[in-house]
Amino acid sequence: MVNFSAKESTSYDDWIITEPKKPTEILPGMVELISNLTPKIKLKLPIVSSPMDTVTEYEMAIQMALHGGIGIIHRNLTVEQQARAVARVKRYKSGFISEPYTAGPNFTLTELATIIQETGVTKFPVTEDGKPHGKLIGIMTDKDADFHDPNDLVAQRMTAIKDLVTAPYNTNLDDAKKILIANKKELLPLIDENGNLHAIITRSDIKKSRDYPYVSKDSKERLLVGAAVSVADILNDQTRLEKLIEVETDVVVIDASVGHSKSVYDATKTLKGSYSFEVISGNVVTKEGTAYLAAAGADAIKVGRGIGQSCITSKVVGIGRGQATAVEECAEEAVKYGLPIIADGGIKYSGHVSIALALGASTVMAGAILASALEAPDPPGYKRQKRGDVWFKLYRGMGSSSALERGQEVSGGRYAQAKMVGNVPYSPEGVDVEMRITGPVSQILDQYRAGTCKAMSSIGAKTIAEFQQKVVLERVSDIAQIESHPAYRPLHDEPNYSG
Ligand code: XMP
Repeated sequence: MVNFSAKESTSYDDWIITEPKKPTEILPGMVELISNLTPKIKLKLPIVSSPMDTVTEYEMAIQMALHGGIGIIHRNLTVEQQARAVARVKRYKSGFISEPYTAGPNFTLTELATIIQETGVTKFPVTEDGKPHGKLIGIMTDKDADFHDPNDLVAQRMTAIKDLVTAPYNTNLDDAKKILIANKKELLPLIDENGNLHAIITRSDIKKSRDYPYVSKDSKERLLVGAAVSVADILNDQTRLEKLIEVETDVVVIDASVGHSKSVYDATKTLKGSYSFEVISGNVVTKEGTAYLAAAGADAIKVGRGIGQSCITSKVVGIGRGQATAVEECAEEAVKYGLPIIADGGIKYSGHVSIALALGASTVMAGAILASALEAPDPPGYKRQKRGDVWFKLYRGMGSSSALERGQEVSGGRYAQAKMVGNVPYSPEGVDVEMRITGPVSQILDQYRAGTCKAMSSIGAKTIAEFQQKVVLERVSDIAQIESHPAYRPLHDEPNYSG
């Protein structure tokens, strides 16, 4: 006899938040989106960027934290690369560029022109070894190169250190700004006692700078950041964990597609028993899976299987669960242990965040919507494509052949050897897709904040807890589903909707 589940597997689009019976007195600006990532970590924007190699490296993680969320650095990096990415986030100081593009004295003007073209940067500190923290020996700008022999070297054309204005590495932003303005300079290098470059500030960045009222910070005022690890990093060889502790990673995510498994249970328990990280475990989609990982000691539970936008698990394995059903069931269970749920995957519009919160999630994890941002990384060797006026970039599932291949390379293994798991042939669970680059991640996050605040204000809730208590969800019919999109093809994209 076949066992059928009594529940229907529903997704975010199957649900809509209904208008409340009482009028609201709350305006969107009065709403606070404070939520727990883990019992100890609070965010002011309930969005986490996914540990995928086309979504989160240090640039994305910095932006996520500045806007009130958090980024989780992916694991398709060597131990050193991943730790360095975390360290860059922890070292970030608003207004300062701590990893500037630099030139070396032996770069030719042709080489410099290529860097200018590729990066759009026109002013470079020149360091002895050409690296961002090498000994500062000058500054080179595009104008210094104008009208000179392309084979000339940067050393011949730069402004040398003796003619530069610099400031000590620990100068605060306000003082640095004053020095820059008083000396009518475009770029101010900050150097340490040995003359090594620490960071720079530029006039154009000061003009662009904005306040970050929601910034996610640790007790030492540094940005919050997380890192993904595998079960093997915990149970077999803890080199990665040691390094991540050393750079003061705030939270570790155990990256596993089948969280309701003995190996993830053991990994969670071991990690909690031996390290001070906050630990996010997953992924699960049932109340039993949630209870199991709660018992292992997880600080938060990640929910979702087979619903990511670059994921083919439901098709190639035949398993998964509609994300709305999974989130609702897991959240109901997690509440018993005081644990937050991270609804992982399937977010396509800002309205989906409102629905995920309504279903009991504390935060959402997003891949696709953030992969279209300028700050999302490209895998080694991949070049962004321009067609007409539009730039495209790669978004891929971490279970796609190409991502698995990179994972094998950074772990020192050979992809071909990994093609069998025991006696089961290797099979991908993700695909590579191309995304249109939509702009800076700040623009995306601002729109997601706005959509979520509007949902909460509409039902008269100032806080997420109040929202979850008051909200009423209604099933959407197929026709109502179609009607929720515009009836006609939009002439152009809106910042929060593309047709
Ligand atoms: P979205 O929908 O935001 O989903 O793009 C991001 C989440 O998708 C999961 N993920 C995968 N799932 N095969 C899968 O089954 C994959 O190759 C894959 N890669 C990522 C992951 O949970 C991520 O946060």
